Amino acid sequence: MDKGTFYITTPIYYPSSKLHIGHTYSTVATDAMARYKRMRGYDVLFLTGTDEHGMKIEDSAKAAGVTPKEFVDNIVCGEGGVLDLWKLMNISYDRFIRTTDEYHIESIKYIFKKMYENGDIYKDAYRGSYCTPCESFWTSSQLAEGKCPDCGREVKYAEEEAYFFRQSKYAEKIMKLYADDPDFLQPQSRMNEMLNNFLKPGLEDVCVSRTTFKWGVPVDFDPGHVVYVWVDALSNYITALGYGNDKYNDFDKYWPCDVHFVGKEIVRFHSILWPAMLMSLGLELPKRVFGHGWLLFDGDKMSKSKGNIKDPALLAERYGVDALRFFLLREFPFGSDGSFTNELLITRINSDLANDLGNLVSRTVSMVEKYFGGTLPENHEDGVEDNELITMAAGLHSTYETQMEKYSFQNALAEIFKVTSRANKYIDETAPWILAKDEDKKPRLAAVLYNLLETIRICTIMLSPVMPDSCEEIFKQIGVPEQLTTFENASVYGGLQKNTTVCKGEIIFPRLDVEKELEALALIG
Ligand code: ME8
Repeated sequence: MDKGTFYITTPIYYPSSKLHIGHTYSTVATDAMARYKRMRGYDVLFLTGTDEHGMKIEDSAKAAGVTPKEFVDNIVCGEGGVLDLWKLMNISYDRFIRTTDEYHIESIKYIFKKMYENGDIYKDAYRGSYCTPCESFWTSSQLAEGKCPDCGREVKYAEEEAYFFRQSKYAEKIMKLYADDPDFLQPQSRMNEMLNNFLKPGLEDVCVSRTTFKWGVPVDFDPGHVVYVWVDALSNYITALGYGNDKYNDFDKYWPCDVHFVGKEIVRFHSILWPAMLMSLGLELPKRVFGHGWLLFDGDKMSKSKGNIKDPALLAERYGVDALRFFLLREFPFGSDGSFTNELLITRINSDLANDLGNLVSRTVSMVEKYFGGTLPENHEDGVEDNELITMAAGLHSTYETQMEKYSFQNALAEIFKVTSRANKYIDETAPWILAKDEDKKPRLAAVLYNLLETIRICTIMLSPVMPDSCEEIFKQIGVPEQLTTFENASVYGGLQKNTTVCKGEIIFPRLDVEKELEALALIG
């Protein structure tokens, strides 16, 4: 079942402040995809990390009275920092890169010099509108009503000696890339946006060095300059594999990347600048870039400066890590924006996890205990009422797979919940409590309960990339041995042995009191 390699990345996050639920959303999605691919038998490399250079960090450190390194160390490795958050959220990354890691710095110097030697980087002066928080120069046509098109803040005129990357040289090649591989950038709307807003009007060269601050990788051959943060940041995807350094040596194994998951506002860097840099370096291009939407809060992208931060640790503590992971992927379509509200969170946990899945598991396990002392007999009597449920459960792996391969987490999860709802309805149709009254109906009752256990087993396999710990608990309660929890085993209905023994446990997803929770959430913000 060796399927080859699968290399997936998140953006590397700016540790300029604590990470919030928007960052958690993109990391949880990447984690679920990495787990799904592992379950399918791929040799997965899941990379995440932190983007630690730049003027913003230098300024924040100064304001905090510490060195930039001390500042980022605290946010990345300190208590409640990035590493703690990913541990709490059960993020199964294989590698974590910090752009302040020595090996990465060594690679950046090499990459910059190589592009310079190839004639793609040249020295000039930059004159134009500059957005300090975004560290970006903008042309007048790119400004949005005179302001930064990314963050909407004021820009100011700036002039600076700088190195430039000949991005303009690659415009045609990038348009050809989009034409030859229409799936390169997904969803499709993002590709149209890149074509219409940036490529067709004509690409400009990009300013790739700074002299106005120090906190960055020095240009090897001109140390008064530090490398522009996006060249430094984008390169993480290859330096983490050992490109230009001796720390790792699996570049040949994992590159080109299978998919970069990125937020929509940084699609431009990933689908234009990054391919152009790779072309300049003579390297293969990533196979896919997927630009996901934003989680909006009161109609706005969450950000500390706007004061609408939702703390993922608080929510995970209150509702469980898995319930939060599930909510994020079930509620919002990955490719579009979604509005986070406390009502949606509580309602989704109650409807899908407590009432539907949780109820199905606990009713089924209780009935096996009550009617058969915990172990089903060997003798089962099938009925015509079983057919629809069996067909749905047996077909789930393929509908689920189709959606997961499109990164449609929401639809993949919806497919699973169609089956769990059908199973709850099957309980009402077959009325096991009536069958239980008649000794002759015991084989029929055994078949009904078996179909429920088997349906739960299949659904739980599909849910496990999203809710790993809860699924392990469900497997334990319904008595599924580890070898029957693989994706391959989900494609065969009837894998569970006939005389399965269940093991009743705690309620996995307790029902929430909506009003009480909304009041509590309003208080904790
Ligand atoms: O952009 N909803 O870092 P970053 C969804 N260092 N996603 C969100 C979000 C929200 N409300 N808020 C943030 C950077 N994100 C660079 C990346 S990659 C070579 C360098 C997502 O910490 C955002 O869209 O500002 C982005 O993809 C990621 O978090 C990192 O944002």
